[in-house]
Amino acid sequence: MLSCSGQDTGAGDAAEGPRVDLPWAARTLPAVPEPADNRFSEEKRVLGRLLFYDPVLSADGVVACATCHSEQWGMGDGLPRAVGVEGEGPAGPGRRGPHMTRRNAPSLWNVAYKDTFFWDGRTPTLEEQPFGPIEAPEEMANDPGVIAAELATFDEYVALFEDAFPGEAVPVTAKNMMKALATFERTIVTPRAPYDSYVRGDEGALSDGALRGMWLLDEAGCASCHVPPLFRVNAFMDRGVPEVEGIEDLGRYEVTGDEADRYAFAVPSLRNARITGPYFHTGAVPDLRDAIESQVAFAVAEGESRELSDSEIDDLTQFIFEGLTDRTEEPRRPKEVPSGLPVPRDGTSIFR
Ligand code: HEC
Ligand code: HEC
Repeated sequence: MLSCSGQDTGAGDAAEGPRVDLPWAARTLPAVPEPADNRFSEEKRVLGRLLFYDPVLSADGVVACATCHSEQWGMGDGLPRAVGVEGEGPAGPGRRGPHMTRRNAPSLWNVAYKDTFFWDGRTPTLEEQPFGPIEAPEEMANDPGVIAAELATFDEYVALFEDAFPGEAVPVTAKNMMKALATFERTIVTPRAPYDSYVRGDEGALSDGALRGMWLLDEAGCASCHVPPLFRVNAFMDRGVPEVEGIEDLGRYEVTGDEADRYAFAVPSLRNARITGPYFHTGAVPDLRDAIESQVAFAVAEGESRELSDSEIDDLTQFIFEGLTDRTEEPRRPKEVPSGLPVPRDGTSIFR
């Protein structure tokens, strides 16, 4: 979007409505970016959603993307670390198995706005990203070429690929599968959080506690990384998150080999953090208030923030909890998928 000076602000300017008090510029979420070689179409979204929930993508025919990125668990899985092929139990806390990932499964909410993917940013496009989980032995343990050949054996998939990629001689390819998955993932966004209504001029959209929390997020320096309107930035930082015993994880350093990147991890968005626990790349902290408290303690130790009282930490929590939650674009789980395999079962969560 262009500002008055004609400069690209990269964000939706909230000009309509009365002016509200904010510690930073008034911006709502920008339009969802679309890569030139993979424009949005409803046909791609429909196909991508079915692929996302279809366990035909995994070697054991049981694990789907949704096993680790479930709408029931904030587009993550509610587990500290994810459990892939040969696991037992429905998706969500309690699922067990021989193959666990090294890191927490990140939420896919607002993944559309990211420039690099994974906790260490090793993949630059959402179209390439699914190669990671599909091939990883502890996740889906499969081969994209093999999956494409298998998908081509289902008439329903062939028809869906033809609709999504019209005019292509061989529409059912691994590449097109990735494009459809990415198109679907780009629809999982949060444009309607109470914070956005507030920015657009609805003064009553945030409670007094949430408003105090919003100002504290700025005062305590949190907003320099959890930058509005996404409450994240494309950067990798070491925030002192304790390592998990037995797991070596050097973070961004593993990609760049740069000493400054040792133990640096991608800044997660605070949007929908209410439903995306457990927190941090280790998934070691189950409670949002505890996660916030630990980040405040780190900021104080680093000299970025003054000490905050318990009630100020409550206010910070309330801003994130109440102000940044929006599930209106949450995907719906299909009852059936074209492969005919059972759609993964999901544990139920009580919306906190
Ligand atoms: C076994 C669990 C598991 C499965 C199945 C799985 N993922 Fe993931 N996903 C993860 C984990 C764990 C990470 C983080 C890995 C890392 O950072 O090293 C991740 C990361 C991602 C990311 C990057 C998010 C970010 O914020 O950078 C995207 C996008 C994603 N997965 C999409 C998918 C898609 C699409 C599928 C299906 C093709 C899928 N995942 C299947 C566990 C899983
Ligand atoms: C210099 C950048 C930076 C600052 C400043 C910062 N954070 Fe973070 N924050 C991060 C990074 C990076 C992570 C992920 C760390 C990890 O998992 O190793 C994170 C993780 C979090 C998480 C967990 C989110 C999730 O989904 O796992 C919360 C909550 C959080 N920060 C809150 C805060 C609060 C509150 C403040 C202010 C007191 C703050 N942060 C200041 C960079 C920052």
